[in-house]
Amino acid sequence: MITKETIDKVFESARVEEVIGDFVQLKRAGTNFKGLSPFSDERSPSFMVSPVKGIWKDFSSGKGGNSVAFLMEHSHFTYPEAIKYLANKYNIEIEETEQSDEDKAITDVRESMYLVSEFAKTYFHNTLLKTEEGKAIGLSYFKERGFTAETIEKFTLGYSPEAWDAFTKEALGKGYKLEFLESTGLTIPKDDRPFDRFKGRVMFPIQSMSGRVLGFGGRILTNDKKAAKYLNSPESDIYHKSKVLYGIFQAKQSISKLNNCYLVEGYTDVIQFNQSGIENVVSSSGTALTPDQIRLVNRLTKNITVLFDGDAAGLRASIRGIDLILEEGMNVKVCAFPDGEDPDSFAKKTPYEELVNYLEDNSKDFIQFKASLLMDDAKNDPIKKADLIREMVVSISKIPDRIQREIYIQECSRIMDISEQVLVSTLAQLVQKDVSDVEKKHKQEQKTFEVVKNEDPVQPRKIDILYGLERKIIEILLLYGNITEEFEDVLLKTNDEGEIENVVERNKYKVFQRIFLSLQEDEVELANPLFRDIFKNLTSYYYQNETFSIEQYLMHLQPEFAQEITDILMEDERVVLHNWEGQNIFPKAKTESISQYVSETILTMRWYLVDKIIEEIKNSISTEPDSDNIESMSMAMDYYKLINSFSKKLGRVMSRYS
Ligand code: CTP
Ligand code: MN
Repeated sequence: MITKETIDKVFESARVEEVIGDFVQLKRAGTNFKGLSPFSDERSPSFMVSPVKGIWKDFSSGKGGNSVAFLMEHSHFTYPEAIKYLANKYNIEIEETEQSDEDKAITDVRESMYLVSEFAKTYFHNTLLKTEEGKAIGLSYFKERGFTAETIEKFTLGYSPEAWDAFTKEALGKGYKLEFLESTGLTIPKDDRPFDRFKGRVMFPIQSMSGRVLGFGGRILTNDKKAAKYLNSPESDIYHKSKVLYGIFQAKQSISKLNNCYLVEGYTDVIQFNQSGIENVVSSSGTALTPDQIRLVNRLTKNITVLFDGDAAGLRASIRGIDLILEEGMNVKVCAFPDGEDPDSFAKKTPYEELVNYLEDNSKDFIQFKASLLMDDAKNDPIKKADLIREMVVSISKIPDRIQREIYIQECSRIMDISEQVLVSTLAQLVQKDVSDVEKKHKQEQKTFEVVKNEDPVQPRKIDILYGLERKIIEILLLYGNITEEFEDVLLKTNDEGEIENVVERNKYKVFQRIFLSLQEDEVELANPLFRDIFKNLTSYYYQNETFSIEQYLMHLQPEFAQEITDILMEDERVVLHNWEGQNIFPKAKTESISQYVSETILTMRWYLVDKIIEEIKNSISTEPDSDNIESMSMAMDYYKLINSFSKKLGRVMSRYS
């Protein structure tokens, strides 16, 4: 692990505008810099960098954060990779800490497996290029396939000699342990004569997003009908087949820049496309796409184009898996190749320009494509057509976005010549089922949170209010959390005559404590899950750190929080960007007193929550003639009193300061 000191040094040295300036052309705009968003294709700048705050915000995509977050978003670095990149840029020496024995044992195992795999990659690659056997058999095979030296280099293709244990012997001789040769699957144990899994095959190293070798695919070169054409590394601690995509390391930059990812079937398709000049392409290596693989792509782009071989049977089978991609909220297109061609063979014989045009002209929106395809099958068969409607609607129901679903309903209605009404009601049934599933799950998760239910589908306006209030609480914590202010406490005290009365006391609190204690008193948690997490994170940060600076907090900001937090912190920059002052539109003035602002916000929130409880009670009151509602009524009355006291307090808070 990189030491905390090194990380701190990196953050102290890194200047956000310099780091980003290496990738984005920035222009000065007052105290800030602006530029074209590197995450979208735009003409007018919506990307802001604030050197003062040390953060950036991309208003077109909502992304934002500090220097490290930028490198993680833009260059797809992991956190340690980003730190190392910055350390290198600012000439900071990287110190790494010792780990606990247990952690060390685990990382040591994985680390050793990575090392063995890296060694194997180099060994196979050198064998291909530098040995007589490699050149005669492996290299000539690749040449025959049309792979250039450059391509072979780019994918570090290799060759494993046709011998019982040539690789294993070499690795053992170099000091690699048999244990790791076996756990990576490169060597197969056999009594006292362990042997090479991939003997006599050309080798395709499978790399992670950051370029680490995780496993291999090996293709046989003989026409042996009994042996598998492709052999892959077995699952291991470092190779999880369902979580990797072949080619992702070479493709990531291009996918994110072109905002689209082509999905093909296998190694050779990926490589041939790259050689043709199309780099945004990955493969799931022969199997159906898994949710983990889709998420890998989703980090880089929302758009995926699935490329199919040109045979009809395969096509019908493969479109079934695509609903999974829709479920992740991605836009899916499909493109089929001419009969008898696969992406590899087609790319091989088609010049770049023509290939690009072909892909553009033949990529069709998946839903439309599926509807037309199935329509061909069902045209004159009413029973088939009913099935088809259901199948289409199932696909559409997977799309998370409501508006997009509606657009597709219209499209399908047109293509399949069915009234929208029928599609909508079938969809409603399906979506209803999904919603109630989600609600059930939600209820189970929310058990501990008694006062307010999280979602209230019939009252969207109220959700907006609660959202606004909770966001304000986070804003206050970020901007004023550590400031000490005077607040009013109302206490019940016995006076000299022995009567109980309200006494108003003024006490000093840190703002974050005040908020934390008030919410705790009401047993309230924030309803929005993201705000709730940020709230917990921020308050525990305040409790642990005597001094708070926003820069310090942002340094260690979790990427999940960055979008919302930069949104709040860059409110002013958004105004600058849109030049609202020029149009005489001013953001509303901040309150003069922080204490007032905090008290107002907390009170309004409590008010809102209690109001909601009253409403629930009212709804539960029965209108049946003989029903006994006394308890509910008296509960409601108590809550009304509470509201009354809020309004008095709020009045006092406001009048005191206004
Ligand atoms: N594939 C696989 N396992 C197999 C067969 C194929 O993983 N048993 C994958 C490979 O990644 C390959 C892709 O599917 O790149 C295309 O298959 P195929 O055309 O059969 O492989 P090629 O190596 O192109 O063989 P050929 O030269 O016969 O076309
Ligand atoms: Mn092929």
